[in-house]
Amino acid sequence: MSIAKGPVAPGNAGSPACSRQENGTGRRQIMLKVVDLYKSFGGIQALAGVSFTVEKQSITGLIGPNGSGKSTCFNVISGFYSKDGGEVYFEGQKIGNLKPFEIARGGIGRTFQIAEAPEKMTVVENLLLAPKDQTGEKIFNVFFKGTKIKQETGEFLKKIDEVLNLVQLNHLRNEYAGNLSGGQRKLLSLARILLFDPDLILLDEPTAGVNPTLINDLVEAIQRLRDERGKTILLVEHNMRVISRICDKVIVLDSGIKIAEGTPKEIQNNEKVLEAYLSGSSKKQLFHEDTGS
Ligand SMILES: Nc1ncnc2c1ncn2[C@@H]1O[C@H](COP(=O)(O)OP(=O)(O)OP(=O)(O)O)[C@@H](O)[C@H]1O
Ligand SMILES: [Mg+2]
Repeated sequence: MSIAKGPVAPGNAGSPACSRQENGTGRRQIMLKVVDLYKSFGGIQALAGVSFTVEKQSITGLIGPNGSGKSTCFNVISGFYSKDGGEVYFEGQKIGNLKPFEIARGGIGRTFQIAEAPEKMTVVENLLLAPKDQTGEKIFNVFFKGTKIKQETGEFLKKIDEVLNLVQLNHLRNEYAGNLSGGQRKLLSLARILLFDPDLILLDEPTAGVNPTLINDLVEAIQRLRDERGKTILLVEHNMRVISRICDKVIVLDSGIKIAEGTPKEIQNNEKVLEAYLSGSSKKQLFHEDTGS
C-alpha cells in the first residue's frame, strides 16, 4: 500500500506563491490527523492516546518538556517507529502502517533531532546524494547516457543553489560536512529534505545548536516555506521565542499526553503548561526566555 502522490520529483521547491487553503467554510483544510496514538518502550509510555490535527499551509508547534514524547510522535508519523495503537491520516489517507520511504515519497519530509551527514563529502556532494529516479542512478546509464546525466546534474545543481541560499549555507557549499557545526548540519539536513519538495515538513528542534544570528534567518526561511511555497510545517522546538513568533497553533505534550492546544498566546497563559515546564516564580518566563534543549 502506498500514498497516492507517487514518486517525489527532485526539485520543484520553487513553486509559485500560494494563498492559504480553505475549504469554503473559512476553515483551513486538515493535512495531518493523528488519532489516539499509543507507543510504549518496555515500561515507558511515550505516547498515551495523543490526538491532534495540522492544518494545510500552517506552522504547528509541538512542544513539551524533555521526554514528553515529541520525537516519538515524529518517529511514528514518519514510519520509523510502529505504533501500538491509534491511526495517522495524511491528506485523508491512513498512513499508520506504511514504511518510512513510502511516507517520504507520499510527501512528508522530516529532519532528525541529531543531524548526520557523510563527513568526507562536501555540502554539495551530500545534497547530490539526495535525488531519486535520476538517469545516473543505474551504472549502465553512466556509460551510455552521459549527456543526459550531465544535463540533469546541472539542473539539480541549480536547485541545490536555491535551497542552500534558503538555509544560508551557500558560503559553505565546498566545505566537508565533517567540518560543519551541529547547527550547520541541521541546516544541511533541512536543505536535503527541501530538495524532495515535501508537502508536510516535520522539523525536530531545527534551531538547537544553531548560532543565534542564524536562528533569525532560519525562522524567516521556515515562514517563507509556508507563505511563499504553501508548505505545511510541524515543528518541535524548545526555543519559545521561535514558537511564539511563527506558530499558528501549538500542541503541548507532557508524559505522552496532550495537555493543551491553542495559539501561542493561549498556551503562554495556560496553567497546566506552565506547571509542566517550570515551577514557582520562574514559570512566567516560559515565553520570554529560551529554555535551551
Ligand atoms: N527508542 C527508544 N527506546 C526506548 N525508550 C525510548 C526510545 N525513544 C524514546 N524513548 C523514551 O520515550 C520517552 C519520550 O521520548 P522522546 O524522545 O519522544 O521525547 P522528546 O519529547 O522528544 O524529548 P526531548 O525534548 O528531550 O527531545 C522518553 O522517556 C524516552 O526515554
Ligand atoms: Mg526529542
